[in-house]
Amino acid sequence: ATGLLADRLGRPLHDLRISVTDRCNFRCSYCMPKEVFDKDYSYLPHSALLTFEEITRLARLFVAHGVQKLRLTGGEPLLRKNVEILVEQLAALRTPAGEPLDLTLTTNGSLLARKAKALKAAGLKRVTVSLDGLDDAVFRRMNDVDFPVHEVLAGIDAAREAGLGPIKVNMVVKRGTNEHEILPMARHFRGSDIVLRFIEYMDVGATNGWRMEEVMPSAEVIRLLQSEFPLVPLSPSAPGETAERWGYADGRGEIGVISSVTQAFCRDCNRARLSTEGQVYLCLFASQGHDLRALLRGGASDAQIASAIAHIWHGREDRYSELRASMPPEAQSGRRRVEMSYIGG
Ligand code: GTP
Ligand code: 5AD
Ligand code: SF4
Ligand code: SF4
Repeated sequence: ATGLLADRLGRPLHDLRISVTDRCNFRCSYCMPKEVFDKDYSYLPHSALLTFEEITRLARLFVAHGVQKLRLTGGEPLLRKNVEILVEQLAALRTPAGEPLDLTLTTNGSLLARKAKALKAAGLKRVTVSLDGLDDAVFRRMNDVDFPVHEVLAGIDAAREAGLGPIKVNMVVKRGTNEHEILPMARHFRGSDIVLRFIEYMDVGATNGWRMEEVMPSAEVIRLLQSEFPLVPLSPSAPGETAERWGYADGRGEIGVISSVTQAFCRDCNRARLSTEGQVYLCLFASQGHDLRALLRGGASDAQIASAIAHIWHGREDRYSELRASMPPEAQSGRRRVEMSYIGG
């Protein structure tokens, strides 16, 4: 089952984002607000989760269809027990041309100081760490579990020492909450080998109470940064990339902006998402997935699963962020949408 797939809008399948748990030890208000994700919230039972063998088998079939990048997400992926064993299995996969994959993981960094070495040894290439501010009080408020910022910074250092680079740091900007952290974050990471990316707060899921007023458009972020550091636009490093890249004019590194709200990037979106329980989602904002676990557990052959994947991708026409602008507000809020913590961003 090799050969390149294209969806209905001609987009190839290039990335697979794999969620390995729907749990997280943080309660960021834009993702898992405390009021909803409380002690009564029902997470997936263990039997529903794909096993490492099931994930690796699916990943191998996606790779045969052209996937070149695998990203582990969650929830918080480092909460999945023995996740480094999964990393080891995925690191052994090769593209049809015999190349290793770009194998990476997006984490909140809280367990990274403890796990960086083992992840590197298992074959992880790099990590992306979410960090919404440097000020300890702001950071504790944003993660909403009183987690101190110095532990995440120690996690980033450990990842760098372990050789898990190039490291990216993601900052979700919420107007009225952490926009004052934009310049301090830029000053802190400038001149390091870490790429800081500013993300527009997105209307993902149905629980975060998203409002346009809390979105700070990337154009404004860039303007603010320009007031202190001259920036020059850089060309994309890969087609379909989420971030628009900017370089510091004095050569001291680069930053990125991810503008899903004000400048949708669906046109080249080449990402499929695999949920913790084996559903394929074709868009971060999809209301429904396509079940692969039933095939896995029903005894389907590799050829049957590969052809199901091809069929699913062929039928894809999702482009939510592009359509959002022209949707009436009722259509936006009335839509059933999967939670970020379930699908992994
Ligand atoms: P790199 O390969 O390192 O550039 O990673 P990435 O940007 O593909 O992934 P990452 O997990 O760092 O995601 C960065 C932000 O972009 C997160 O807020 C994601 O939710 C968001 N994001 C990633 N992919 C998509 C997408 O296809 N659509 C939208 N709307 N947002 C996305
Ligand atoms: N809007 C934008 N980014 C979000 N993330 C989680 N929820 C949202 C949201 N509502 C980010 C996390 C992480 C990445 C995977 O997604 O901070 O960096
Ligand atoms: Fe956890 Fe990441 Fe969601 Fe925050 S954004 S609650 S760290 S999964
Ligand atoms: Fe891709 Fe959907 Fe994001 Fe558009 S909104 S870039 S189609 S995941």
